[in-house]
Amino acid sequence: MNNSIGIDWDSLRGDEFPVTQRWAYFDHAAQAPLPRRSADVLHAWAFEQAHDGVVGWPARERRIEAIRDQVALLVSADRDEIAFISSTTHGIGLIAEGFPWRDGDSVVSAAEEYPSNLYPWMNLASRGVSLRLVESRDGRIEIDDLIAAMDDSTRVLSISHVEFASGFRHDLDALAELCLARGVALFVDAIQGLGPLLIDVRRTPIDFMAADGHKWLLGPEGAGLLYVRRDWIERLRPIGVGWHSVVGSYNSPRNEFRLKDSAQRWEGGSFNMPGLLSFGASVGLFLELGPAAVSCRILEIARAVRELAAAAGWTIYGSTREADRSAIVVLERKGVDPNKAVRELFQQGVVASCRRGRLRISPHVYNNQDDLDRLRAGLEGIG
Ligand SMILES: Cc1ncc(COP(=O)(O)O)c(C=O)c1O
Repeated sequence: MNNSIGIDWDSLRGDEFPVTQRWAYFDHAAQAPLPRRSADVLHAWAFEQAHDGVVGWPARERRIEAIRDQVALLVSADRDEIAFISSTTHGIGLIAEGFPWRDGDSVVSAAEEYPSNLYPWMNLASRGVSLRLVESRDGRIEIDDLIAAMDDSTRVLSISHVEFASGFRHDLDALAELCLARGVALFVDAIQGLGPLLIDVRRTPIDFMAADGHKWLLGPEGAGLLYVRRDWIERLRPIGVGWHSVVGSYNSPRNEFRLKDSAQRWEGGSFNMPGLLSFGASVGLFLELGPAAVSCRILEIARAVRELAAAAGWTIYGSTREADRSAIVVLERKGVDPNKAVRELFQQGVVASCRRGRLRISPHVYNNQDDLDRLRAGLEGIG
């Protein structure tokens, strides 16, 4: 791999990614291996918690607020627009349940979405809200089909930045423009996009976005971000309200209920402190390297994966338009069972997964030529 951006990726690999000692790891769309620094934070948290209990808590709480600044910076949001959540699913539910629905409203989404971006909206049927699903065509979800599914009842378009099983990348700028013009709120499930792709909520007027950190953002499970555009904060019904949701949360009189005027009102109880501290270390790594450089590098490796897979006799599933592609590379080969392919790759130390009947390869910044060679040999050997 060439090094076009001036970052020493080999050193980064050696210093920060112990996973490379054993595996050629291509499964970031499933779950990330932790960078060394993010694992160290977890060890340090456990040590301090065991030795000092609550004594170190104020410093850790201050660190959480610094992490909020970093997360906000990553997506160009205001810190008050960021709430920490325990999963993408959690974030989707907070918006689906809190949205100011009227009987007869509808939500539009894609039929191939991950279930967590379908069930919370389906669950609104008892409140008179229906979900309309658009099918893809040849691996593409056409904007015209989304438009055709909308009418005056449509209040929300909920879509993944990148589809988990096909790797199709939605054009968020076009969708945001469309939603703005129609007065429809745009919810983005960003867990398969954020990291390999850049999201700037100032440039792209998204209303809501949720992403857990455990895939492309290289964090542990159970710690992620919810973005709520400022002008929505007062318009949504806050769900999961608790001691931490109110102004002066540490010493508020019991009978005074004044919600914070920020997205922190959704952080009702104690933080997942170890998870968020570790997530913060991973976000710090992104910011240190530069999110644009990270994105470039991951997409470059994904391109290399497509090339070697084609050379190894596999067909690349999905749209061939560059703008539709993401860091998720989806492969198929006639007569090959993708589950068996995953098992065979695994035997050779190559980690990948099978989703919806196809082989899914999802690289990250630290994969190198050696990993690619192992993947190629693995793909060639599957019969
Ligand atoms: C697009 C998408 N959304 C949501 C999820 C679920 O994420 P979480 O477990 O953080 O709720 C996944 C998991 O694979 C996903 O791919």
